[in-house]
Amino acid sequence: MERLDKVISATGKKSRREVKLLVRQGRILVDGVPASAAEMKVDPETATILLDGESIGYEKFTYVMLHKPSGVLSAVEDSRQQTVLDLLPVELRRRNLSPVGRLDKDTEGLLLLTNDGALSHQLLHPKSHVDKVYYAQVDGALENADCVAFAAGMTLGDGLACLPAQLEILSPEEALVTLREGKFHQVKRMLAARGKPVLYLKRLAMGPLQLDETLAPGEYRSLTEEEIAALQSAVNGLISTERQKSSKDFCGKYEKILAKP
Ligand code: URA
Repeated sequence: MERLDKVISATGKKSRREVKLLVRQGRILVDGVPASAAEMKVDPETATILLDGESIGYEKFTYVMLHKPSGVLSAVEDSRQQTVLDLLPVELRRRNLSPVGRLDKDTEGLLLLTNDGALSHQLLHPKSHVDKVYYAQVDGALENADCVAFAAGMTLGDGLACLPAQLEILSPEEALVTLREGKFHQVKRMLAARGKPVLYLKRLAMGPLQLDETLAPGEYRSLTEEEIAALQSAVNGLISTERQKSSKDFCGKYEKILAKP
């Protein structure tokens, strides 16, 4: 059971303060009866909650795909700099969303935001085998020895041991990098350790979830039911991940996203 004002504010449509007023005005019905107090307890899964006669459209969790632009922090709030939450409308900002993992300020691409803490935790856990796929442009010429070093599992200069990763060379200065974990600046540090510093980085996929190519940087959309189910299956180990697919399929899949304007 949860407080009525919490349930309604979780939809993003009304704040808790607004709910208090609406209850006083008799505009909220719970199972056909005017709500007695904003603090009254309801079961959001079973109660019929109407505002001015319309369903409040309660959803337990919210899942948003954002095409993160460069120059924005992957944080919930910051006193000085713009964060990814600042890119969302107020209804979504009210829903306690957090980014699932962080992208660097200058990294672009797929960022999932959700208030489903359990799923978020599982997606980030290396044991869940949810691969993250990045497109990188580097300063230098990539070569087969770099792929071998990535596949072997690199240990960086500061002793940081990385799990085996996949490097697929698209051109001497471009590659797809697939990681199973998400250590701080990991792609940049791995490529820098090979003497090829990253000039541009974009995340294309997280497990089965691919960046929607119709979203311009800074745009977002809700995940579809299928995408949510695919993520849940991925953490339950029910689907294969990209690294099991052939290199050709793998690159082909990202062709559209990688197409330059
Ligand atoms: N690796 C990095 O170096 N930066 C990111 O933003 C994500 C992965």
